[in-house]
Amino acid sequence: MKIEIKDLHYTYPAGVEALRGVSLTIDSGEQVAMVGQNGSGKTTLVKHLNGLLQPTSGSVLIGDLDTKKVPVAKLAVHVGYVFQNPDEQLFCRTIHEEVAFGPRNLGFDASKIESLVADALNLVELSSRKETNPYDLSPTWRKMVALASIISMDTSIVILDEPTTGQDAVNVARIAHVVAELRKRGKTVITITHDIDFCAENFERVIALSQGKILLDGPAGSVLGQGEILAQTYVDPPQLTRLGKRLGLKKTVRNQEEFLSALKS
Ligand SMILES: Nc1ncnc2c1ncn2[C@@H]1O[C@H](COP(=O)(O)OP(=O)(O)OP(=O)(O)O)[C@@H](O)[C@H]1O
Ligand SMILES: [Mg+2]
Repeated sequence: MKIEIKDLHYTYPAGVEALRGVSLTIDSGEQVAMVGQNGSGKTTLVKHLNGLLQPTSGSVLIGDLDTKKVPVAKLAVHVGYVFQNPDEQLFCRTIHEEVAFGPRNLGFDASKIESLVADALNLVELSSRKETNPYDLSPTWRKMVALASIISMDTSIVILDEPTTGQDAVNVARIAHVVAELRKRGKTVITITHDIDFCAENFERVIALSQGKILLDGPAGSVLGQGEILAQTYVDPPQLTRLGKRLGLKKTVRNQEEFLSALKS
């Protein structure tokens, strides 16, 4: 489903103007990373996609559904949102119950629910912990439960809000694997991240926000190559990208492979 955001403004009831005119189109099946300094409006923006927040002005369309007119329950069929803080999302006594809650709520039949739960737990490598209470896991593994509980809803749009924060390298690789699998399945994935290497290695399109507005939006290679503009929102391009620039490589490189092939050419 296509996402169309037009001139979106949002002011929190306390008076903070968090979004100041964001316009954006994301096509079905795109994989997008969203970066920007703390408080730049990333979470506020994605919370508009499933109707958790309503525009102060402007509009958000999911396919042809206007989030101002469609109830949150209807948007939940299409948009899954993994919270920045899993403790805001998890409330069941076992991992199995937690991951089954979403698909049950969407009204799927029992056998479909079981196969969705099994698939999601398998993807995040938690199949053997079904009966564990999520709160007996470390916060980093609770994030994986939160991720599974959204994957199991099989929505066409999946939003991950800082999935890699606080994760060790093994879990970051697991999350990259999940993103790759969702890409294969044709899902739209929007990932907010402060991990610029994760962003460079796993996403083709990067959107940088600054002070409630879009600063840059385009192919990762082009956005990450604009270090001076990114600095306005306190984002440093990946180390290899910066090194490539200092070496005078003609192409902006994002990872080791691109770096090595640019060196040889
Ligand atoms: N519930 C709230 N009430 C009032 N202001 C808020 C609320 N949530 C966020 N804000 C403010 O809105 C602005 C945007 O916040 P938001 O959480 O969207 O940023 P973010 O880019 O996700 O930041 P982070 O990287 O820290 O998660 C900030 O100034 C923040 O302080
Ligand atoms: Mg945030």
